[in-house]
Formats: sequence, C-alpha cells, structure tokens
Amino acid sequence: MSEHKALVLDEVRKFHQEQQPAGGFVPGVTEIWPSGAVLDEDDRVALVEAALEMRIAAGFTSRKFESSFARKLKRRKAHLTNSGSSANLLAVSALTSPLLEDARLKPGDEVITVACGFPTTVNPILQNGLIPVFVDVDLATYNTTVDRVAAAIGPKTRAIIIAHALGNPFPVREIAELATEHELFLIEDNCDAVGSLYDGQITGSFGDFTTVSFYPAHHLTMGEGGCVLTSNLTLARIVESMRDWGRDCWCEPGESNKCLKRFDYQMGTLPAGYDHKYIFSHVGYNLKTTDLQAALGLTQLAKIDEFCAARRHNWNRLRAALDGVPHLLLPEATPKSDPSWFGFVLTVLPDAPFKRADLIAFLEDRKIGTRRLFAGNLTRHPAYIGQPYRVVGDLTNSDIITEQTFWVGIYPGLTDEMIDYIASSVKEFVGQPR
Ligand SMILES: Cc1ncc(COP(=O)(O)O)c(C=O)c1O
Repeated sequence: MSEHKALVLDEVRKFHQEQQPAGGFVPGVTEIWPSGAVLDEDDRVALVEAALEMRIAAGFTSRKFESSFARKLKRRKAHLTNSGSSANLLAVSALTSPLLEDARLKPGDEVITVACGFPTTVNPILQNGLIPVFVDVDLATYNTTVDRVAAAIGPKTRAIIIAHALGNPFPVREIAELATEHELFLIEDNCDAVGSLYDGQITGSFGDFTTVSFYPAHHLTMGEGGCVLTSNLTLARIVESMRDWGRDCWCEPGESNKCLKRFDYQMGTLPAGYDHKYIFSHVGYNLKTTDLQAALGLTQLAKIDEFCAARRHNWNRLRAALDGVPHLLLPEATPKSDPSWFGFVLTVLPDAPFKRADLIAFLEDRKIGTRRLFAGNLTRHPAYIGQPYRVVGDLTNSDIITEQTFWVGIYPGLTDEMIDYIASSVKEFVGQPR
C-alpha cells in the first residue's frame, strides 16, 4: 500500500473514532429507530479506499461481492443491482426472456403473490404485462400458507413471487414443492430476511430466484443496492443481459473479447461479424451498481452472522418481555423457521380499549420509532385501483393489518436498554387506566 494511502486511511480511522456519539442512551430522548445501517470503522475505510482508487464503476470488487454473497446464500450466481426493487424487476422480467422458449411468461399470464407487503414485490408483475393473483396472509406470522397458494393456481398461473415477511420465512419448502409440481417459477423476495432459516435451510436458496435489498434498513447495506441470485445458469445469463442494457456480450468493462468470437457472430438480421459488444438480445435496462457500493457490501458481509445474531437476540428479548401483554397480538415465527428478523410486529386486537394510533403516538412521543407493515393491503392503494388483478379468497387479514398493525425496531443498532425501554413503554401504555 502506498505511504500516502496508508496515512489517509489511518486518518479515516481516527476520524471515525471522533464521530462516535458521546453519552449513552437517554430514555425518551435518544431516538430508537425502527431500522438503520450499522456502520463501523472498517466500512468507512472500505468506502474511502474505493474512492481513493477511483473505482467508480462496477469491476473487481463487485464481482468479488457477487461470488462471496452467492456462496453465503448457497446459489451459483449473484448479480448486483442498484436496489432490491430492481432485483425484483430483473427476476420477474427474466422470466419473460425469449431464451426460455416455451417456458417464458407472456402478457396475461398470472403470478401468485400476497396482497399485504411491499409494493415492488408486486409491481414487476404489472410492469411486465402479467396479472397478479393476490392471496391473504395469516396474522401473527404475517405470511401466507400453502393452502392459499394452492387454491390460487389456475390454468394461466406461471409463477409465484412472495416476500419472507419482515424476516419471517413463508413455508418456502412446501411452496417450492407446489411450484415444482405445477411447473411454476418461484421467486423468493428475501429483501428482509437474509440469514433466516426454514426447515434448517437458508431462505433464498429454495426458489428459482432470490432477491435482496441493501438499502440501509436491511440486514446488510451498501447505501442503495440489491442483488438477484439463482443457481440456474440460463436465468443468470438473462439477468446479466437485462441488467446491462440487454446486451448479448458478457465482457466486463475494460474487457473486449472474452468469448474470443467478438467479430464472429451473426444474430437477428445484423450483418455477419457485427461487434458482439453492441448486439442486444433483450429489451434491457441499466440497473448496475458501482465498486464503491460493493466495497461497503464486502465489509458489511463480513459481519452478517453477527448482525443476524443481534436481530435474533433483540427480537427474543422483546418477545419475552411482552409475553402475556393483553390486547396485542404478538408475532410468531412460522413453524419450522428460525427467522433473522427485520422488525417486531404488533397487532392491536379488536377488543382493545385503545386505538393503534394512540399506541403509536405514545411510542413516537418517547422517540420509539414505528413503521407500518409496508403498504398493508396493496389493493386499497390508489396505484392499484383499476389495475388488472385477481383475488383468491378474501383479504380479511390484510385489511386487519392495514388497520391495526405496526412494527418497532430490533435491528443490531439497538441495545438491551433500548429494547427494554420499548417493552416497558408498550406495557405502560397498555396498562394505563381508561
Ligand atoms: C420485501 C421487500 N421487497 C423489496 C424491497 C425494495 O428494496 P429497495 O428499497 O432496495 O428497492 C423492500 C424494501 O424495503 C422490501 O421490504
């Protein structure tokens, strides 16, 4: 390492120390965020080092992150994207590729998903001219069930995309088996669940595709970022092409003839020998990241087991402290699962002598941040009114969630003192004479 670089990075470490907030947790004054990035000295140094080397596009570091992350999620290939939403867009769009021949999804085909969750799990279905088929979820796990998904399968069903709800796995092994039985593609939206286990196996390793978000709220962060993973090499090739403008060529920036046939192709109605770098086999996007993001991703990835352990510890501590509290439905792990939780979900029961809004106001007033279970029932949002979709069964629980549910944080940036303060505040509010 150059002497100047070593000096700069040494100063960065000192700067990092200097930035640490003085003083400890003050109940009611210190913000208890529902989620946030946990960034240490190594993260800061990694970002600065990438900047010093001016690794401003995707290159070596991105490829290193992709192979390390693929190993972690037990998939053969990972492709970085600029967000989790882009990862979902690529995963669904890839299923429409002509390279899949008769298996490709065509406009009007149906994709089963849940009504209650984050919009960009569902949007790529509509963006590709496909029809979402919504099913309801259970309360307490906030996941759907095999029976609901099975009931939604019809003659036009071609795929399933479901998110592991706030880190809690859906019954993914059984739904993957159902998908295989009916020749459906399965996409696991694993954006909130990196490190979760279902039936002893890591989530994201069951479906044809898995997607991840690296936004600061998530288990790992790159600021903005996401990833699509698969073990199917054809699907991986399609994702890479669609991510990188739709090109047919797979040379890295700076490379020009990896296949050794750059001027030997004849595709479409192009003249023979047309430069392969500029042959486009998909109507693609540019959804790439930079090595600055990947550099941060790598130092974050080194801490993933620690992060997941802290999430489990905080959730279990809060769950134990709130056990038996009246008027609230406490969250439950899906049977057979060991979640790497994203948040701690509470539903105000119908018999409660208080309203969700009052409990939220009480907590927010104490600087305890709250969030909704994302959109709640998506079909009630202006964006989806008038869109083509089908609902199978009713959406009773999705409506209850829209009206009665919220979550608080358990992310690794929270201490035991903070978790205990959340618990005592909830209990104090619920126990108030009314
Ligand atoms: C389940 C789920 N899917 C997709 C996304 C989108 O990720 P991003 O914000 O990186 O676009 C989120 C975001 O929180 C999410 O929770």
